[in-house]
Parts: sequence; C-alpha cells; structure tokens
Amino acid sequence: MNVSDIKVAQHREATSGLSVDQRFLDRWSPRAMTGQSLQDTELLTLVEAARWAPSCFNAQPWRFAYVANSSPGWQELLATLVPGNQAWAQRAGALIAVISRKEFEHNGASAPTHAFDAGAAWMSLALQASAMGLVAHGMRGFDLDAACDCLKVPQLYELQAIIAVGHPGRVEDLADAYQERELPSGRKTLAELAFAGGFEQLPQ
Ligand SMILES: Cc1cc2nc3c(=O)[nH]c(=O)nc-3n(C[C@H](O)[C@H](O)[C@H](O)COP(=O)(O)O)c2cc1C
Repeated sequence: MNVSDIKVAQHREATSGLSVDQRFLDRWSPRAMTGQSLQDTELLTLVEAARWAPSCFNAQPWRFAYVANSSPGWQELLATLVPGNQAWAQRAGALIAVISRKEFEHNGASAPTHAFDAGAAWMSLALQASAMGLVAHGMRGFDLDAACDCLKVPQLYELQAIIAVGHPGRVEDLADAYQERELPSGRKTLAELAFAGGFEQLPQ
C-alpha cells in the first residue's frame, strides 16, 4: 500500500464536531518513502513556503540546511540520526535541518521566540509538502553535536529539528516494526487544552 492511499481523514476527525480546514487533518508524518532524491526546485519550494511564516519583529530567525539523498554529505548527516530514525529516513529524498538564530540581527539581543518562530516555519514547510503530495517527518532523534558539526552550524544558531522529506513509498517496504505504526495519530481533546478565561491544570 502506498501511504498516499491511506484515508487519513477517516482516522482524523475533529473530536469537537467543529470543522477545520481539511489541510490540517490531511498532514501527518508517514515513514514510508521511495528513496528518490528530491530536486532542488522541490526543496526550495518547501523553503519558500516556510519563508512566509510569521515571526517576532519579523526577524525570520529560521535557516534551512538541506542535503538531498545521495548528494555530498548525505551519508554523514544520516549517520547522526538515532538508529530507529536511520532505519526509515534512509529512504527519504532529502534531510532538511531547521535551524534558528538565537539573537536578533537588528540589536544583538537574545531572541526569546526564535524556536517558536522556527516551529511556525516548519509547519508551513510541512503543510506545503503535504500539498505537494510529499512526506515530511520531523525528527529530534539525532546526535545534536554530531549533526551541528556535520552541517557546520555556528554557535549563534540552534539546530531545532531535522525533517525527512520524500516521495511517499510503500508501507510493506518498511521494517515490520514500523509497518504497524504507519497510521495517522490521534490527539488530545479540545477540553484538555482549550481553557476559556485562564489556564486550568487538569488532573493527570
Ligand atoms: C520536533 C519533532 C521531533 C520529532 N522527532 C521524531 C523522531 O525523532 N522520530 C520519529 O519517528 N518521529 C518524530 N517526530 C514525529 C512525531 O512523533 C509526530 O509528529 C507525532 O507523533 C504526531 O503525528 P503526526 O505528525 O503524524 O500527526 C517528531 C516530530 C516533531 C514535530
């Protein structure tokens, strides 16, 4: 089965009965990919979407360092992932590192929302990938120091996540342990996370 054949919406329904744009329900994080290398134009289209994300002071602290499958640096960056991620991410078309600048460029002050802003940019990238029929799967399971060395990330910047992006592949090509997990995940209910009037600590 091809991941794009999975009827995501059947697994993902707004629990509240409220309707949200279908694009939010259609995005998920498959692991099955074909291994076909992504073209520069595809990668830059993803970054173009991310570029339009909002950020504090419009500082745009996000940076993207990408390596396409089989291009120079691919094996080195792949090797920084934990084995459980390497197992499936080796068939990604590219790895995109999401990096954020910790200080504002305009005054050198600490930028308290750099990670938050980079998170918004990553979501734009993920939604663009989904719209293009591509898989985008965020990862934090990697050796941070090794990945920063590999990508030559300066001290002023923080590596937030590495995104495995690629063309959707066949679930049966995944190792058994991943085949059964190849389903869109659920979510907390609105009642657990939306509080009118002030924060509520719910019983665990
Ligand atoms: C910052 C971040 C780090 C993640 N790290 C990993 C990872 O190392 N390995 C992995 O298999 N999935 C990873 N995920 C994927 C999440 O597990 C996944 O997004 C979550 O279960 C929700 O599923 P969905 O994206 O299909 O809706 C990560 C996602 C994000 C946003």
